[in-house]
Amino acid sequence: MRYQVAVLLSGSGSNLQALLDAEAAGALGAEVVLVVSDRADAFGLQRALARQVAAAYVPLPATPRGADRAAVRAAWERRLADVVAAFAPDLVVLAGFMRILSPAFLDRFPNRVINQHPALLPDDGGDIYVTSTGLVIPALRGAHVVAEALERGLPVTGCTIHRVTPRVDDGPVLARAEVPVLPGDTPETLHERIKVEEHRLIVEVVRSLALEHACAQRQG
Ligand code: GRF
Repeated sequence: MRYQVAVLLSGSGSNLQALLDAEAAGALGAEVVLVVSDRADAFGLQRALARQVAAAYVPLPATPRGADRAAVRAAWERRLADVVAAFAPDLVVLAGFMRILSPAFLDRFPNRVINQHPALLPDDGGDIYVTSTGLVIPALRGAHVVAEALERGLPVTGCTIHRVTPRVDDGPVLARAEVPVLPGDTPETLHERIKVEEHRLIVEVVRSLALEHACAQRQG
């Protein structure tokens, strides 16, 4: 059976599109079997449906007054994991999924969840990143790192794909690409150029994980 991939997203899904296009071109070595979103209006769901890929909306419920927020959240993560597990994917890709997942979800897919982050993260989980030209820049984590790269006047930023651990924007790095910040860049123009690299990298990473998986199966 082909290597099966589930994609979790909250928004536009241009990275999902890169995967779907590579798959259609026979260049992915994997099959996207499921797309899940925490937002009903995520355009990525439409991209999935347009290619006859199963798509699910699993909303995070509002916490009723007096209820335990952590318990509501853990129950949602278990429900999300149930939906994903029903498709038994070999890999779960967080492609612009704007929620932090805890062990309630992650423990169900050990070592099988990867994340895209639109900034450069180091191998050692530390707070600095040394660029290919030797510049030392801060490792930016969180949801607003493209704007932050501009605010801090960084000459270069980029993107990282890493395995997911319960620590936010941390975990073994699988791939990264540097992107120069240009004079006159806005968060939008910079993010667009970062996404060009992300689209290339996510296809490369999924393809190589699928290949590794196939080799391991042949040997086992
Ligand atoms: C990407 O830049 C990704 O790194 C970040 O969210 C963005 C998702 O873009 N986590 P898209 O929805 O795939 O267009």
